[in-house]
Amino acid sequence: MTKIISIANQKGGVGKTTTTINLATSLSAINKKVLLVDADPQGNASTGIGIAYKDRLPSLYDLIVKRELDTNSIKKTIVPNLSIISANTNLAAAEVELANYEKREFVLEDILLNTKAYDFILIDCPPALGLLTINSLVASNSVIVPLQSEFFALEGMSSLVNTIQLIKENFNPKLNVEGILLTMVDKRNTLSSLVEKDVREHFGEIVYKTTIPRNVKISEAPSHGKPAIIYDVNCSGSMAYIGLAREILNKQD
Ligand SMILES: Nc1ncnc2c1ncn2[C@@H]1O[C@H](COP(=O)(O)OP(=O)(O)O)[C@@H](O)[C@H]1O
Ligand SMILES: [Mg+2]
Repeated sequence: MTKIISIANQKGGVGKTTTTINLATSLSAINKKVLLVDADPQGNASTGIGIAYKDRLPSLYDLIVKRELDTNSIKKTIVPNLSIISANTNLAAAEVELANYEKREFVLEDILLNTKAYDFILIDCPPALGLLTINSLVASNSVIVPLQSEFFALEGMSSLVNTIQLIKENFNPKLNVEGILLTMVDKRNTLSSLVEKDVREHFGEIVYKTTIPRNVKISEAPSHGKPAIIYDVNCSGSMAYIGLAREILNKQD
């Protein structure tokens, strides 16, 4: 059984792409077969994992146009066990074009229907609650919501929670919240600790025990086209993402 997880939050810069790449790599390292789907027209996940622009075709956009999987779109990455369907800027047009499709919320689900060989499919969502994110949530079993540990962390959460609820009611009854992940946590910073306390009080058990520290290696890694886990496995950020993968796997069984 493949578990499909969207990494979503309509805010930009909260750690969606970083989480998708490093969680995917951590799960692969624990011998899981993983497919990363880059559903953001910015293509940051594709770049961050070292897929050159010219090597992205057919990209997710081409699959959406045909509404079916083309196995040529699945590219190997430098990480054993981890493949990717990449994105380029064409994908921005899909947000508009999808509006005219019949059953427009189910296009990504149709595309992923025949990808059975994976333990996990992780979808990196764009920073919006538009049709690409809706398609990702409809195609998924669950969603991970990264929250940046700063003052406005909870801003926008009610519209995200509403969207998840609407998708559950109308398109995908099995969708649930896999977990809320605190990112860019700075234990020395009082505000960061207050935000963590606030988020845990508000959302309870669903917040992962694992938090991701603010760590410079994590932010350097994408410019080398490598996941942090490959760039520096011993840095605090890499260790945290490996811990997150373990926490998620422990929750499954
Ligand atoms: N734990 C972290 N420590 C330091 N920098 C981080 C961390 N997580 C993310 N970043 C940096 O913050 C920026 C936004 O992260 P990103 O994952 O791209 O967010 P999103 O996909 O939500 O827009 C990027 O420059 C990334 O390298
Ligand atoms: Mg991103």
